[in-house]
Amino acid sequence: MDIENLKTIFTQCFKNEGVVYTSPGRINLIGEHTDYNGGFVFPGAIDKGIYAIIRLNGTDTVNGYSIDYDAKWSFSIDENDQPKKHGSQYIYGVCREIQKRGYKIGGFDTVVAGDVPLGAGMSSSAALESTFAFALNDLFNLGIDKFELARIGQATEHNYCGVKCGIMDQFASVFGKKGHLMRLNCATMEFEYFPFNPKGYKVVLLDTRVKHELASSAYNKRRESCENACAHIATKHPEVKFLSDATMDMLNEVKNEISAEDYMRAEYVIGEKQRVLDVCEALEKGDYETVGERMYGTHHGMSKLYEVSCDELDFLNNVAKECGVTGSRVMGGGFGGCTINLVKEDLYDDFVAKAKYRFIKEFGHEPKVYDVVISDGARKL
Ligand code: GLA
Repeated sequence: MDIENLKTIFTQCFKNEGVVYTSPGRINLIGEHTDYNGGFVFPGAIDKGIYAIIRLNGTDTVNGYSIDYDAKWSFSIDENDQPKKHGSQYIYGVCREIQKRGYKIGGFDTVVAGDVPLGAGMSSSAALESTFAFALNDLFNLGIDKFELARIGQATEHNYCGVKCGIMDQFASVFGKKGHLMRLNCATMEFEYFPFNPKGYKVVLLDTRVKHELASSAYNKRRESCENACAHIATKHPEVKFLSDATMDMLNEVKNEISAEDYMRAEYVIGEKQRVLDVCEALEKGDYETVGERMYGTHHGMSKLYEVSCDELDFLNNVAKECGVTGSRVMGGGFGGCTINLVKEDLYDDFVAKAKYRFIKEFGHEPKVYDVVISDGARKL
């Protein structure tokens, strides 16, 4: 990101200088759709994110300019004039959520830009929320802890953007640490940093550049299925608070009470819990073959049971398999976006070239390629 350019634009817009904040997007090695089921996730922050220059303006109005949309917008922090466009709805949501928690904030001027691709499954929206939650906490000296900053971003998605997401993306964006993945237990919010430097391997994202229109309603529907399956299991096993607490035996006990669709969704979630644990154990032993195998297992589950893949993602997953890539799967919520691939260094060039060539032939456009660099979380620059 060209910070000097950001500063110049800020001065042009607001005749003043501000403070620069940034928060990253994320990858997730494994543990998908487990966060809102009280399971484990295994994300890391990346070297791509959202950047904002901010200056408090002493009013109750937020004035912004989004470089990526080339759009100016304003809203009042204490009125119900929720903006809908150009990312400002996320910033408004963060302001509202902070105030709902009893903290006092005021208006500010801001210029926003990002280099995390939108809609690619790398959590550009969480990066935006975390940037502002972190910045406002700092600028107004609110003393909000990092977990609550992540929850403010998540609540913004729920209450202002219509996505009933889990906590993974905002958590990763706030807590990210260079060179480390984080295994988070989403039921207890306990987490551990795992050094991640797979010697002899690279992690690469292949972005289908597909974004499905109804992704947020389909996402919310998956969540409802899980909650329904969990509620049925809990009537027989009151100790089950989240679907991730359940076993396949418990699920089978309620098989006749729930729809075939809800059963498949739950089957995926229960399987995914074990895959995350397997991957963490394998990583500690440097056993990348097992890591990769579980990644393919996740893809299969997300495609056939959870049904959040699409032709483009399945195609890239197959190409990876054919090229002998160690692990590959759809990453993030699904319905488009990227595959994440764990590939041996000596296979990398061949794989990327083949994937591009074959994808263009099949779908008429090139997938984008992103090498993953695991980086720090939300911060002031
Ligand atoms: C999206 C959501 C996350 C998580 C993933 C799937 O990124 O924001 O909370 O549920 O999908 O793992």
